[in-house]
Amino acid sequence: FFQAVASPPSSNFLLLGPSGAGKTAFTTLLEAKSSLASNKSHGTHTSQQSTFVTVTLPPTVPTGSNRYRSDNDPSLKEAIRNPIKYRVRDTPGHGKLRLSQGISELQTMSQSKDIKTRLRGVVFMVDTAALVDEATLRDTATYLHDVLLLLQKRAKNGSSSKRTTDIPVLVAANKQDLFTALPPGVVREKLEAEIDRIRKSKSKGLLDASADTGLEDEEEILGNNEHETFSFKLLEHEVGIKVDVVGGAVKGDLQEEFGSGVRRWEEWVGMCL
Ligand code: GTP
Ligand code: MG
Repeated sequence: FFQAVASPPSSNFLLLGPSGAGKTAFTTLLEAKSSLASNKSHGTHTSQQSTFVTVTLPPTVPTGSNRYRSDNDPSLKEAIRNPIKYRVRDTPGHGKLRLSQGISELQTMSQSKDIKTRLRGVVFMVDTAALVDEATLRDTATYLHDVLLLLQKRAKNGSSSKRTTDIPVLVAANKQDLFTALPPGVVREKLEAEIDRIRKSKSKGLLDASADTGLEDEEEILGNNEHETFSFKLLEHEVGIKVDVVGGAVKGDLQEEFGSGVRRWEEWVGMCL
């Protein structure tokens, strides 16, 4: 008989973001799009447990190691024959589960030196229609701040001996199909401004705390340079962590505007491979 020898997928992506952003809907869509689609029906109810799914990259999406693939490139035929697989870890976004799952998995996966579990990138998904609400914006920005600070600490610790490989972050600005959705540029500005506020109140809190206890707290500030307003550009410049904000939609018909609602996120994934 014939047995396919599948190479073990070794490229891991971690999917983070607040509850209701669309993470499980996204992983379910990726599974359905993949040839491996196993028609498991995941509900779109609040997740309580992280799950791994193995999915394939559409052959027409270029990869980082094969940037200049064109339609008549022989490598496209090869990609159709042997599509690139990657794994996505869907995590629960509920505030009470973030530390024990999303954040702690980021901690372990980003430290891993094993090629099989190495983390290639983080997708931080946000509901762009929900960000007009102040409390939601604050909650989302706080989660993103903690994710980026963890990656910043990792980048610093690794730089002393041998350089750790970078883990880029995609802010997937989801639900662009809704007419109340904020455009990706506005999402970026809002998140940057809110993270700046969080940074300021953190460093002020630290000053107060050290005044109280007389202790010099070594807690670091995201993006290091506290005299400058926070921006993702600052973070890239100071720490080397790249953050892209890209719009898309898991649901709804965005064929005209986006080609496919998740195509540009798949292109970002491809660039990490
Ligand atoms: P947790 O598991 O609680 O962290 O949430 P989640 O991020 O997994 O959210 P989930 O995938 O369950 O989606 C929440 C709701 O948003 C569901 O009702 C989805 O159908 C809906 N949704 C997801 N993506 C989109 C989108 O692009 N547009 C619209 N209009 N709705 C979406
Ligand atoms: Mg979920």
